[in-house]
Amino acid sequence: MAERLKQLQSQLGPVSGNFPSGMFAGQTAIITGSGQGIGAECAKLFAKDGANVVVCDIDQSKAEATVKEINESGGKAIAVAGDVTSQEYNDNLVKKAAEFGNGKIHHLVLNAGFTWDAVIHKMSDKQFDAMIAVHNKAPFMLVRAAAPFFRVTDGENRTITTISSTTGVNGNAGQINYSIAKSGVTGMAKTIAKEWGPKYGVRANAIAYGYITTRLTAAKETGGFAVYGNEKVAIGIPGASSTGAGNAGLKEIPLQRGGTPLEAAGAIVALASPLMSYVTGHVLMVTGGRNM
Ligand SMILES: NC(=O)c1ccc[n+]([C@@H]2O[C@H](COP(=O)([O-])OP(=O)(O)OC[C@H]3O[C@@H](n4cnc5c(N)ncnc54)[C@H](O)[C@@H]3O)[C@@H](O)[C@H]2O)c1
Repeated sequence: MAERLKQLQSQLGPVSGNFPSGMFAGQTAIITGSGQGIGAECAKLFAKDGANVVVCDIDQSKAEATVKEINESGGKAIAVAGDVTSQEYNDNLVKKAAEFGNGKIHHLVLNAGFTWDAVIHKMSDKQFDAMIAVHNKAPFMLVRAAAPFFRVTDGENRTITTISSTTGVNGNAGQINYSIAKSGVTGMAKTIAKEWGPKYGVRANAIAYGYITTRLTAAKETGGFAVYGNEKVAIGIPGASSTGAGNAGLKEIPLQRGGTPLEAAGAIVALASPLMSYVTGHVLMVTGGRNM
């Protein structure tokens, strides 16, 4: 235990400005859904701080674009494109990440996801099952596949971050499937924290986002879609503006604006950082103060 604390202290390194630099040097991070939005910004932030980053997305060209940007700016990343709802994909992802990370994996960010809304009495089984598959079963399969790389006693900083939503904490009309799935991942983080904290020092936390300006919250009319099996699922909010200005509910946010994908990603990286070495099993609300 004393040795582990000493190692964590040394990982903090010299603090330059208001952010430690190189705090993930030599560590490997898998970030699902990192072809765009919050996940892509998260991949770039991990890479900026020295991590070997494994970019995963169902959209291969977007995954490769994130990797290109990271590698061209001096970071280290590989793309492993595929569908997180497949066990085979998750096994391959872990294998490729371990090869890239010289036999080690340190951070999982379970971020891939989308919405498929309907009011309760009109929601189909397919819509319901899709949310459980992508937001619950997929992260479970990845965590289980990566278990041998987290149940280790080398004292290095290991974290798992699940991505929840205010809908998972507070509920939201029209999103019973997403609400159930997103509350599920808060329990997932707490369970991992309890199973892998005592012996291995793994920290697991959840982040519940409010309104972050990505394609998920852009105007539905812009034609954004997610892919589920052979289906294209329209995403976005009917009538939303790109800045959030005028969106219903904005005035309920003390900061009076949506968060940027970079701000959202910053919270993930902050939780994974050794500065948070005593924070685990926590649900961090990243909402601009909404719903406090
Ligand atoms: N934007 C918000 O306001 C908000 C709020 C609360 C929670 N979230 C959550 O944050 C996470 C990221 O969302 P975002 O806003 O960045 O959305 P986004 O659509 O910009 O990015 C999500 C990424 O996940 C990928 N993805 C979806 N299904 C996949 C699958 N089966 N396999 C692999 N990749 C898949 C998509 O291709 C996309 O690149 C999601 O889990 C979302 O539910 C977002």
